[in-house]
Amino acid sequence: MSNSDLIVSLDIGTSKVRVIIGEISDGAINIIGVGSADSEGIRKGAIVDIDRTVQSIRNAVDHAERMVGISIDEVYVGIDGSHIALQSNHGVVAVSNEDREIGDEDIERVLQAARVVALPPEREIIGLVPKQFFVDGLDSIQDPRGMIGVRLEVECTLITGSKAAIHNLMRCVEKAGLRIAGIILMSLASGMMTLTKDEKQMGTVLADIGAGTTTLAVFDGGSLAAVSTLPIGGDYVTSDISYGFKTQTEHAEKIKLKFGCARTEDADKNLKFKVTRVGSNQESEFNQYELAEIIEPRMQEIFQMIRQEVRRLGYLEKINGYVLTGGSVSMPGVLQLAQAELESNVRIAVPEYIGVRDPSYTNGVGIIQYVAKYVRTRTAVASRRPARGRSQSGASRPGFLEWVKNLFREFI
Ligand SMILES: Nc1ncnc2c1ncn2[C@@H]1O[C@H](COP(=O)(O)OP(=O)(O)OP(=O)(O)O)[C@@H](O)[C@H]1O
Ligand SMILES: [Mg+2]
Repeated sequence: MSNSDLIVSLDIGTSKVRVIIGEISDGAINIIGVGSADSEGIRKGAIVDIDRTVQSIRNAVDHAERMVGISIDEVYVGIDGSHIALQSNHGVVAVSNEDREIGDEDIERVLQAARVVALPPEREIIGLVPKQFFVDGLDSIQDPRGMIGVRLEVECTLITGSKAAIHNLMRCVEKAGLRIAGIILMSLASGMMTLTKDEKQMGTVLADIGAGTTTLAVFDGGSLAAVSTLPIGGDYVTSDISYGFKTQTEHAEKIKLKFGCARTEDADKNLKFKVTRVGSNQESEFNQYELAEIIEPRMQEIFQMIRQEVRRLGYLEKINGYVLTGGSVSMPGVLQLAQAELESNVRIAVPEYIGVRDPSYTNGVGIIQYVAKYVRTRTAVASRRPARGRSQSGASRPGFLEWVKNLFREFI
């Protein structure tokens, strides 16, 4: 692999586990493989059964391996959930150089200093996002390298998570026979990929509406400002259809995917379909309008809950719009419904790569882009050989300094 490298992402969702293989070739990303499997052992985004989750991960990885003809050794694992919290912190160091010119080493030390914080024993740091640097008290510095000073400070956001949730996630991935190259906050990675610079600056909410959860990430002032996960999603809609039509959940899900429509005004009364009733072999006929009558109020409720949560986070008056992603926004009419309910600018984000043009792939593709841009430049995480066997070779992690350099290149 001369000038191409592979990055593999793993998104363990409530409905599906998704593996995406990205190839970095001369700086550009190609998506060369995708694997997905039904998720078992996950409820509302949280792992509730390790063995079944491990099996789901294996199924998704096997699927991706078969598609590309490689063996996946190492993955970047996405994380999200109600246990994630952000907290501001500050780091201060004395500039070490004799000529007092700030260098990469000083940046590394000040970022390390910013990681030093008293956390409750059940929490740990997942990541750090620098917001601004100060040199001898002068603020709003984005890249202090090369400046002269004696005191370097950074203001940053620490991303923390529950130790137990992180442990369970890592345990499942390792038990599935994979090495963990890193844990990436999916809302941060997806936000960095899908939001424009202006959107991040002017205040935008990225809402990932999945099956069991809706994750909100507020970007403001150029970086991630708040996150929150609500225990609602497409599964609620499916369950309403199942009750409304008195049919099995599985069947209700199929009907939703095939005929679902988020607004009654777009629904077609002449589009009819048969539904098998629970406990009988009898089929009843319904039409798309009747289906939309069930879906619309639930989707309205989801958008109202998103709005309430943004208000609770203190951003309702500050933000300029919403960007929607996640599998549940694929349904026809969701955009128009969201625009009406959220009373703001709304657009839908879909990854712009062949083979993954679906909002349920935003997180997985976001992880690959984030890793390619900020985490490393060259690391082999998968080997191009068909046989199973997980080698330890091939990794050349650039380390913290490389991360810092990449951060300056794009992030701040
Ligand atoms: N075309 C479609 N119309 C309606 N709903 C859809 C469509 N495609 C996918 N969905 C719904 O999207 C949801 C799955 O989305 P996604 O894959 O983003 O969730 P997940 O990552 O598995 O779950 P979570 O993020 O909540 O843990 C399911 O509820 C599914 O029914
Ligand atoms: Mg998801």
